[in-house]
Amino acid sequence: MTQRREVAVTSPLPGRAVERLEASHRVRLHEGSPLVDPGDLAEFIGGAQGVVTLLANPVTEAVLSACPYLEVVGNCAVGYDNVDIDAACRRGVWVTNTPDVLTEATADLTWALILAVTRRIVEADGLVRAGRFLGWRLDLLLGRGLQGQTLGVVGWGRIGRAVARRALVFGMEVVFATPSPPSEPEPPARAVALDELLATSSVVSLHCPLTPATRHLLDHTQLARMRPGAVLVNTSRGPLVDEDALVAALASGHLGGAGLDVYEYEPTVHPGLLGRADVVLLPHIGSATGETRAAMAELAADNVRAVLAGEEPPTPVVRGRMA
Ligand code: DGY
Repeated sequence: MTQRREVAVTSPLPGRAVERLEASHRVRLHEGSPLVDPGDLAEFIGGAQGVVTLLANPVTEAVLSACPYLEVVGNCAVGYDNVDIDAACRRGVWVTNTPDVLTEATADLTWALILAVTRRIVEADGLVRAGRFLGWRLDLLLGRGLQGQTLGVVGWGRIGRAVARRALVFGMEVVFATPSPPSEPEPPARAVALDELLATSSVVSLHCPLTPATRHLLDHTQLARMRPGAVLVNTSRGPLVDEDALVAALASGHLGGAGLDVYEYEPTVHPGLLGRADVVLLPHIGSATGETRAAMAELAADNVRAVLAGEEPPTPVVRGRMA
């Protein structure tokens, strides 16, 4: 009897992902918390041919070179900045991600942040819980409306477009900035340069991957270009924003607020953000609905299964060697 191939899984997975892997492979699961320490990832993968990883698992050149039997990294996230893509290409290791299944959940969460900041939801909730709601007042916790305002979407991928579709329902105009804008955008929106987007949008929402080119896309200079009083929302990757610069732009009153699901040094949050009432801070829960997380885990498992069966995986990022 041939030995079943092994898949290392760095965290318990929701849905039927583990069951699907176990149908054809030996599965070694890291249970419990915390996650596999970055320094122990290579040892954890060991001689496995496949690994299912989370974005908190850095799959570096050193990890790949220490795991010569590894054929596929099934990253359970749409972003894959935790994986050294060049090193995987050089070694013929497949890398896969989980696009599509998390688009709507992440767009919903982006809108939860937009509304929470512009309508001061967290402050309002705190006021009620503190027993400070003393009756209806004309001037209590005034926020700002979105109708007729401009939403600037930076990055025009699936999630950016899903956020834009929702903006139309709120009566907003949408502009977007992306390196190669489509000639007929769907939903209808106007492609502009990033500088123009920053200068005209009341709400700027970031939806681009983290790459060397997008790190600190919004630095001191770019934040200064934003409209006075504008709101910045980030549900993509923290290092797109220079957090020192963001804190300074909020403290000076130039920006009107921020809604953040991700952080430059995640999970550490800049101390200058923590005490601010004009900022809403979430713990990277953009895709965190039960259905979505199960679908992500199952897609990651299906990708790994396909590669180890010598088949094309559903959502490859890097094409590796065929078994
Ligand atoms: C991703 O998938 O890249 C998210 O950040 C986690 O949902």
